[in-house]
Amino acid sequence: MGAEVGVRLDEGVLVVTIDRPAKKNALTAQMYVALAEAIAEADRRDDVRAVLLRGEGGNFSSGNDIGMFVTGDAAAHRELSAATFLHAMTSLRKPAVACVCGHAVGIGATVLLHCDYVVASDDARVRFPFVDLGLCPEFASTLLLQHVVGRNKAAEWLLLGAPIPAAEAHLAGLVNRIVPLDMVEEEALSVAKRLAVKPREALLATRGLIRESTVELVEARLQREGIVFDTLRRSREAQDIFQQFLQREPAAASSRV
Ligand code: COA
Repeated sequence: MGAEVGVRLDEGVLVVTIDRPAKKNALTAQMYVALAEAIAEADRRDDVRAVLLRGEGGNFSSGNDIGMFVTGDAAAHRELSAATFLHAMTSLRKPAVACVCGHAVGIGATVLLHCDYVVASDDARVRFPFVDLGLCPEFASTLLLQHVVGRNKAAEWLLLGAPIPAAEAHLAGLVNRIVPLDMVEEEALSVAKRLAVKPREALLATRGLIRESTVELVEARLQREGIVFDTLRRSREAQDIFQQFLQREPAAASSRV
């Protein structure tokens, strides 16, 4: 496993940690591959009954590493490795809990739609910044978000791209539970452990039934979004926006979100 993705087993829970705090846990191609391997391992291993996805250093994830969107070999590698991770998440049969604190941006937000239970700290902020980046949303979020929060709220979040405070995400149904920051890790692990001791076959069957009606739609939407996303990513409009982010003054950062 790459150094920037950690994996440990804790009483039947595979704790998968995004660990690149200096970059607010922005995800590189190597990290997508490591995350995909971790999720596939969770699916395969009999001693793993649930997954907990978390970020190190006070943030969940700032999303895709924007440097990897810039046209070139890195972008092609990103496409493939990100797709591997998306596929691992959508194929996972076991329940996944997300522990969200600080920023959950881009794929750090859309991955929540593939988890079964989201625990957030009161400081957490979720953001879908795709349009502002010259992109379209991914991870079947154009389909799943409206199932979770309703069409108009999904349109507001995806089109305007403003940061969503934890309380609003909770009220809208994206987050199951909000707890104070110093309790968020403990609470998320506790939920995952509660899932891990449930009767195995009944738990997997029920989870499968909850998802059954959207499985094929999700696969089709992943492919469709992937085509639009890649076309937009190559556009002059988007490439200029990526360069602006990469060349900005440090002080400009916090005003973005
Ligand atoms: N890709 C690449 N680098 C990123 C990144 C990303 N998605 N998110 C953060 N970083 C880097 C910053 O460039 C900075 O690097 P530096 O220290 O070498 O200058 C470092 O991580 C710290 O980020 P900074 O912006 O200074 O932190 P902040 O607390 O002021 O703001 C965010 C945090 C998440 C609000 C802000 O970094 C941000 O908006 N990131 C981009 C999020 C995004 O649009 N993701 C793409 C989704 S498709």
